[in-house]
Amino acid sequence: MLSQEINHVLLSQEQIQTRVAELGREISRDYADKTPLVVGILNGSFIFIADLVRNFSFHCQVAFIQVSSYYDDTKGSGSVTIKYDPIGDIEGRDILIIEDIIDSGHTLAALLELLQQRAPASVRLCTLLTKPSRREVDIPVDYCGFEIPDEFAVGYGLDYAGLYRNLPYIGVLNSVV
Ligand code: IMP
Ligand code: MG
Repeated sequence: MLSQEINHVLLSQEQIQTRVAELGREISRDYADKTPLVVGILNGSFIFIADLVRNFSFHCQVAFIQVSSYYDDTKGSGSVTIKYDPIGDIEGRDILIIEDIIDSGHTLAALLELLQQRAPASVRLCTLLTKPSRREVDIPVDYCGFEIPDEFAVGYGLDYAGLYRNLPYIGVLNSVV
């Protein structure tokens, strides 16, 4: 059974739902008079964004992009390519990026740079999880669900080898190679 592969739960379904509702209220206060484009980063953010936008009390549009990131520790450099990008022209738009987890920060650093080149009016970032102890580049996080320790988390959209995204809570696997 799926749940037997989980060593311990980091965040229960209830903890997540409570925090997502709080984030929704906080973000709703900031965007009360705006109609942002909410951009989810595929695949990990799909469950978070679905729950989060249902707690928004302002108008918004929703779109997704997919990036693939590559980071070479030995060279201290990395690159991010956009694999799926239907959002097109965002000049003058307010953009709210939704991410599942920020680890080293390299993926988002590169993505933020790419989006800034398209001259949006504003870019804010909301992440469900962050691992502060792993950060290698500074990322301006506007809204954050939870800080977690340096453990590999799965569930609620987060995967290991493409699996475990459908768990309703966030946990740590028994063994990760
Ligand atoms: P970063 O560029 O190091 O910040 O990597 C961020 C990406 O790595 C996230 O979008 C996730 O796809 C993946 N990732 C990092 N840590 C975890 C984790 O604990 N569980 C699942 N995916 C993770
Ligand atoms: Mg991701």
